[in-house]
This record gives sequence, C-alpha cells and structure tokens, in this order.
Amino acid sequence: MSHETVVRWGIVGAGRIAQRFAQSLAFVPGAELGALWSRRAEATEAFAREYGGAVCVPCASLDALLDSDIDAVYIATLQDSHAQYAHAALRAGRHVLCEKPATINAAQLDDVLRAARDARRLFMEAMKPPFYPLYRKLRAQLAADPIGEVGLVRAGCSIANAPADHPAFSFEHAGGALLDIGIYELFLAVDWLGAPLDVQTLGRLGPTGVDTFASLNCRHERGIAQLFCGLDLHGKGDAFIAASHGHVTIHENWWNPVRATVRYVDGRVVELDAPFEGGGLNYETAHFCELIRAGQLESPVMPHATSRHMIAMADAAREALGLRFAGE
Ligand SMILES: NC(=O)c1ccc[n+]([C@@H]2O[C@H](COP(=O)([O-])OP(=O)(O)OC[C@H]3O[C@@H](n4cnc5c(N)ncnc54)[C@H](OP(=O)(O)O)[C@@H]3O)[C@@H](O)[C@H]2O)c1
Repeated sequence: MSHETVVRWGIVGAGRIAQRFAQSLAFVPGAELGALWSRRAEATEAFAREYGGAVCVPCASLDALLDSDIDAVYIATLQDSHAQYAHAALRAGRHVLCEKPATINAAQLDDVLRAARDARRLFMEAMKPPFYPLYRKLRAQLAADPIGEVGLVRAGCSIANAPADHPAFSFEHAGGALLDIGIYELFLAVDWLGAPLDVQTLGRLGPTGVDTFASLNCRHERGIAQLFCGLDLHGKGDAFIAASHGHVTIHENWWNPVRATVRYVDGRVVELDAPFEGGGLNYETAHFCELIRAGQLESPVMPHATSRHMIAMADAAREALGLRFAGE
C-alpha cells in the first residue's frame, strides 16, 4: 500500500451509488477519495466538484485512474461492466470493492476471483447488510442468547415504483429483479443457511425481457429458504429467520437494517435497534480498508464463497425463467 494508514480510493462510474459511496467516505476513518473516472467527462468533472473533496483527481480515462495514486477501486457502474472493470483494476494491482451483483453470472465471477488470486489483491462484493450496526448487534445477541439451529429464511422485496428507465429494467445492462434486488435475499439465505443445494423458481419476464418477478424455494446445507423479488408489485421488504428455539424478524427494509425483533420459544421478546450513519456504505468500506491494512485478500464477513453461492443461485433461477443475457 502506498500510504501508511490512509487508503486512497478511485471510483469507476459517477451515478447514484457512486455519489452515496463518496459521501460515505467522510465517515470512514483513514480513507479518502483520490480519483474518479466515468465515461462522460462532464459527469466526471461535476461529480469531482460536488463530492470529490480536497484531493480527488477527475480522470480523463480508465488508464489514468488506474495509474493514479490510489490503493483501491470501487466499481460503481452497472453490472454488465463490473467484470471488465474488476479485471482492469486487478491487472493494475489495485484492490477491488465491486458493487452488487459482483458479476452477472458464476463463470464471470470465477474469472474475476482467479484474477484476484493471481494478482494477490483483495476483492470483495459490496454486500452492505452484514456490516450494518443492526446486523452485527443481531449476530451478537444470538451468540449471547442463542435461538438454536436456524432452519428457515424467508425474505422478499418487490418494488412497484421504479421509473421505466431504471437500469433494473434494462436487458442490455443485465438488469432484472433477481440481480437488482434479489441478490440481497440470496445473500441472506446463504449467510444463515450455507451453500445452496437445490433452487426451484417460478416467475415471469416483463416487456423488456428481464425478470420482473421471481419466487424461489431453495434447499441449503442447513435449511430451506423462501425468497421473492420483483419489479412489478409493491411487496414488503422484511426478513424472517426461524430456528429451533426462536425466530427473528428483521424489519423492512431489511437490507438497510435498523430494527429487529427476536422472539424466544419461552416467550421472551428482545427488540434490537441500531441506526446507521453516513448512508450505510461506510461500514463495508471501513471493513475493506482494515483488510487492506491487515494484508488480507478475502473478507471473512463477505467471503468469495458467499458471492459464488449467491450468483450460482441467480444463474439457476434465471435458467428456470429462460433468461439469458447477451453473450451467455
Ligand atoms: N449497494 C447498494 O446499496 C446499491 C444501490 C443501488 C445500486 N447498486 C448497484 O450499483 C451499480 C450502479 O447502480 P446506480 O444506481 O448507481 O446506477 P446509475 O445511477 O445508473 O449509475 C451508473 C453509472 O455507471 C456508468 N456506466 C454504466 N455502464 C457503464 C459502462 N459500460 N462503462 C462505464 N460506465 C458505465 C454510468 O455512466 P453513464 O452516465 O455514462 O451511463 C453511471 O455513471 C449497479 O450494479 C447496482 O446494482 C447498489
């Protein structure tokens, strides 16, 4: 790393999530935005002015960004280009935090993970929920006062008010409910139940060719997951985790969690509250910076295997729905 303690970030992309990430950096100790590139020079300059802070260099090309004085790259483009930019950043010797879904399919992910291993650089999919204070508080609560063996995860979210030009509807950009919002539910199932063994899917494709609703019943190493995701219904975004001696509800929107209720089989009820600050992306970013400082190549909280299991589930679900993206 080029700096003793400060991790300098470069961002690829200048859209909504890139803005949120840049704002979140103010809440991450020992991190700063060093450079930014997006394919529209105007957008790059405007972003640098508004969110760049003191030292951010707006770059005219991806190569200029990768050659600049940065340690890590945050990939904030749409998912059809995540793999391409991850490879470029890893080749340039940068650590990579990549927005979800890390890639659009398992084959792409395997290539990226191989590249990360070969380059000996840290790679993590930016899956924010496990880093939120509430999620950590819940894990701590269940470690101190267990609910027994978890055997069921039920979670879902369907959004009915996304504008028609939202990238989630874009076939070209590998959108769809599964990869846009369902990826969070897939994470939850894998995080609590382990590797998927069987994925059964019902759903539908919308007029743009992407999945607008999917309902999954999945068998995992340690239990069953019932998941749904959609872009054409107004559906609740809470999560339910059932175990032999109790159950947990993470209240909506569970992927930006602030409140959970734990109910024990003996009648006790524990309410957990934990607000988050800084837009929420700061927690995963702080974790990533710590891993760089510690010389780690993989996160123990969001390991490569979890990303692999998630995208394998998405691949299986898309296959059942007959949804293939360009080049697949
Ligand atoms: N973690 C979270 O909470 C969260 C929330 C929302 C989204 N996301 C994820 O973040 C990613 C970006 O979403 P968003 O909402 O920020 O989208 P957005 O507002 O549409 O921004 C997308 C950005 O990516 C750029 N881009 C798209 N395709 C590109 C390509 N092939 N090469 C170079 N630049 C490209 C766009 O540039 P142009 O302006 O030139 O098109 C724009 O700067 C998605 O993968 C999404 O799943 C994560």
